[in-house]
Amino acid sequence: SDDALRRAAALIREIPDFPEPGVLFRDISPLLADRDGLNAVVSALGRDSEFDVVAGVEARGFLVGAAVAQAFGTGVIGLRKPGKLPVVADRIEYTLEYGRATLELPADTLRPGQRVLIVDDVLATGGTLGAACRLVRQAGAEVAAAAVVLELTALEGRDKIMGETVRALLRV
Ligand code: PRP
Ligand code: MG
Repeated sequence: SDDALRRAAALIREIPDFPEPGVLFRDISPLLADRDGLNAVVSALGRDSEFDVVAGVEARGFLVGAAVAQAFGTGVIGLRKPGKLPVVADRIEYTLEYGRATLELPADTLRPGQRVLIVDDVLATGGTLGAACRLVRQAGAEVAAAAVVLELTALEGRDKIMGETVRALLRV
């Protein structure tokens, strides 16, 4: 409910000047550590879309993604940073604020036509979530929605994820 989400939001810790001076870091760890907080975000992330499987983005998206999958009765796929998987079905390279990054899809997980709920903790510049969406589509699957706990709206990351449903539970 909105009330449960409001209580959950109050558990986010704000740390000034991390990871660099001038940046206000929002740490959702205390929210996830709280039973009611985790419950509130998990039910809200999976609400309003129909999906066959959840894809969580390494690393923080794993925590939330697996919980959503279990709560809604689906399997879970980890979209991984490079060099971790023994057999890679597909990969996508993308640009971040500083430098490049890669996400990889493990072999024998996603099937063409499946509806995928992509889950991550935070939407910032949108590079990561946008790449996850492309990786899913490239595999012939469908993005049911891309869902995050927290959106940092000033970075306008949502604009990088055109054509998909982006759901953010909390927006600052
Ligand atoms: C953080 C966060 C998101 C991403 C958002 O992950 O968990 O995945 O950045 O940023 P973007 O919208 O600008 O792409 P990070 O790569 O720092 O590492 P972690 O999840 O492995 O801790
Ligand atoms: Mg991350």
